[in-house]
Order: sequence, then C-alpha cells, then structure tokens
Amino acid sequence: MDYQSIELEDIKHWKKELLRFIMAYDFAIKELTTKINILEDEFQHIHDYNPIEHVKSRVKSPESILFKIKKKGLPMDLPTIRENIRDIAGIRINCSFVSDIYQVADMLVQQKDITLIEQKDYIQHPKYNGYKSLHLIIKIPIFMSDRVEDVYTEIQIRTIAMDFWASLEHKIYYKYNKAIPQALKDDLRDAALSAWELDQRMERINAEVNQIKEEEHIRHKQAEEELVFPPEFLKLLTEEKQDD
Ligand code: GTP
Ligand code: MG
Repeated sequence: MDYQSIELEDIKHWKKELLRFIMAYDFAIKELTTKINILEDEFQHIHDYNPIEHVKSRVKSPESILFKIKKKGLPMDLPTIRENIRDIAGIRINCSFVSDIYQVADMLVQQKDITLIEQKDYIQHPKYNGYKSLHLIIKIPIFMSDRVEDVYTEIQIRTIAMDFWASLEHKIYYKYNKAIPQALKDDLRDAALSAWELDQRMERINAEVNQIKEEEHIRHKQAEEELVFPPEFLKLLTEEKQDD
C-alpha cells in the first residue's frame, strides 16, 4: 500500500468519524424530543393540561464548537470536544408557569436512561443581568449499529416571559457588539424584573383557577353522591332486572 492510499483511507475514516460525531448529537435531540412529546401527550391525557408551550432544539455549529474549545484553551480532538463541550446538543423548553419548569425537569430527570450531570438554577439564583432559566446538563445513551454512546445535552427550561427577555437581551447584546452602556444594562435588569412580576402574577391567577376548578369538582362529586332516586324509579329498575 502506498502512502497516498493510506492517506485517502485516513481521510475517509476521519470523515466517517466526524459525521458520526455530529450525528450522535442529532440522535440525542431526536430521542429527547420524543420523550418530551410523550410527556406532553400523557400529561394532557391524565391531567387535561399541557405544561409545555413550545420546544426548540439545535446542534451547535462546527464554528461555535471550535471557537469554544479555543476559548477554553483545550486541544482540538474529538474526545476532548466530546467531554468538554457539553452543549453541542441543546434543547429549550418553554413552559406556561414557573412551577411547570420544575415539574417538567423532574419528569425528565427521573427517567431511567437520563443521567443528570449538572443543574444550574438561574431562577432561584438569577444572573446579575437579570437572566432566569433552569439549565440541566444531562447524559443520554444513543444506540448505534455497533456501539452505545453517552451523549451530553443541555436542556434550558424557562417560561415564555423568561424566554422573551432572554431572546431580546441576546439580540441587543450582539447589536451593541458586547459593550452595552450602563443605563441600558440597568434598563434590561429592570425589564427582567417586570417579566418576573408577570410570571408571578400568572402563577397566582393559575393557582386561583385551579382552586376554583377543584372546588367545582368537589361540589360535583357531592351532588352525585347526594343524588336520590325516587322509590318508584328504583322499583322499576329492580323489576326490569327480574324480568331479564
Ligand atoms: P457558555 O459558555 O455560554 O455555555 O456558558 P456556561 O457553560 O457557563 O453555561 P451557562 O449555563 O451559564 O449558559 C449557557 C447558555 O445559557 C448560553 O449559551 C445561553 O444560551 C444561555 N444564557 C446564559 N446566560 C445568558 C444571558 O445572560 N443572556 C441570555 N440571553 N442567555 C444566556
Ligand atoms: Mg454551556
């Protein structure tokens, strides 16, 4: 075998490995998306309610991966990238209410094949700029034709109000080329507070509605239990039964 053919074989092997490397993250997202869809359907069926508003996902671009590995000062090889860049697969879940966030997180983390690696609660401990979200780094096994790979995925769970703030803050941050004037920073922090107040208000309204629904349910059950049939009607029923 001459050198040229060895090189070609090497390139082919590398390309295959690289594609597999990226594919694993795509599979992790597919697997988690199915899990989330199942939770949504089941929750809707059992509780007549869906705590999830929408779900977005993405695989980090090769440019961003390389930029991050460089920023961390790490060598650029696949095992290093796999172990150190844990947000190559990313899923963002938008929930209706703050309380839903923790419920959805628990429902996912409790699943046997999901391992929670790290949790950052920016709701209990918001970032100084006002950013709020629950971040989970999890590991999930992906079954391929000749191997099983544990893949890291970052799951961000937040309310619509938190997402609204984060999306716009992100845009503003890049528009200003990373040097936001202090007055704007203060304004953004204040806006985060307004978003939080809205979340809390919606949570209170939701709790009130739930209580009204619960009371109605109890009244309905009591009314059913207290339902008394006239003796003539009951007699008719038993007579009919005897006729059968
Ligand atoms: P990264 O190097 O950005 O991944 O930071 P990290 O590894 O310390 O993770 P962290 O959990 O703090 O943030 C990860 C992701 O959360 C980011 O890539 C963003 O998507 C989101 N995020 C974190 N902080 C902010 C913020 O201040 N504003 C917005 N808009 N998004 C944020
Ligand atoms: Mg990260």
